[in-house]
Amino acid sequence: MYFPSYRMRRLRQSRQMRDLVHETDLLPDRLIYPLFVTHGNNVRNQVDAMPGCYQLSINNLVEEAKEVRELGIPGVVLFGIPAEKDEAGTEAYDDEGIVQMAIGALKENVPELLVITDVCLCEYTSHGHCGIVRDGDVDNDVTLEMLSKMAVSHAEAGADIVAPSDMMDGRVAAIRASLDGEGFSNTPIMSYSSKFASAFYGPFREAAESTPEFGDRRSYQMDHRNSDEAVRETLLDIEEGADIVMVKPALPYLDIIYRIKQETKFPLAAYNVSGEYSMIKAAAEKGWIDEKRTVLEALTSIRRAGADITITYHAKDAAVWLKEK
Ligand code: PBG
Repeated sequence: MYFPSYRMRRLRQSRQMRDLVHETDLLPDRLIYPLFVTHGNNVRNQVDAMPGCYQLSINNLVEEAKEVRELGIPGVVLFGIPAEKDEAGTEAYDDEGIVQMAIGALKENVPELLVITDVCLCEYTSHGHCGIVRDGDVDNDVTLEMLSKMAVSHAEAGADIVAPSDMMDGRVAAIRASLDGEGFSNTPIMSYSSKFASAFYGPFREAAESTPEFGDRRSYQMDHRNSDEAVRETLLDIEEGADIVMVKPALPYLDIIYRIKQETKFPLAAYNVSGEYSMIKAAAEKGWIDEKRTVLEALTSIRRAGADITITYHAKDAAVWLKEK
């Protein structure tokens, strides 16, 4: 059946008609908001390259978290900025580390907000790499011990979900075994299963103060030219016990999101990273694009590709805009 019997424009003629047949829903209840927590009191440092994002001390983090919850956003991902960095990233697995304290404060003050924690050493090491460096490269197996300790300390502090983002081999299995061994068999792992070595992380490294001092992350994060490998990485993490898998970044990797969802049917998170955010913010500030429409279109496209959950710095704005609709 072709034109003129069929006219595709028939179902597009009014907003009500378009709403009736729309295929993809975008709701705040599938968004996660990333937050940066730092030592001190009453700190609220704006991140230059990420307008609208701040390094917050715990008291301000709690206020921010209440706002997030009131907007209908179910959870946050926490990143910590330690008091001191060292070779072994010690504060990462310290019971009184910044993230561990922040989890306690959030669970006490906003108990129904899901607290997801980033499990990775890069914010805590003096060299800025995601693990322990030996002979100029990150030592995989030694790093697994630190990551496991870190995940357990987050669970002990009350984290609802732990999210390893380091890209070491075998980390999901190591973390699962440690959590189970310490009585946290109910703590889910959201694994950054296909995380690409990406230029789009630039602004985050300013926010988290985690730029590597030498070299780059290409010996552990994935090559952006690969897609089959993303499927293998994800299947391995699933075998090791990942409960939720992830694709990161999101917008330049919609094909990967689509593929992973089709091939695994696992709960899938997509991380709409700092560079994706900053590009929209910068263009909007210049008046070159309409921020609201661009953000909602971008987030819808991530969902349409197959993501169940989207981690995004736009979450708060999007939640407000989605209510206005
Ligand atoms: C830590 C980590 C990074 C991001 C999330 N966790 C940075 C990196 O790998 O360099 C990036 C998030 C973003 O750009 O928004 N390993």
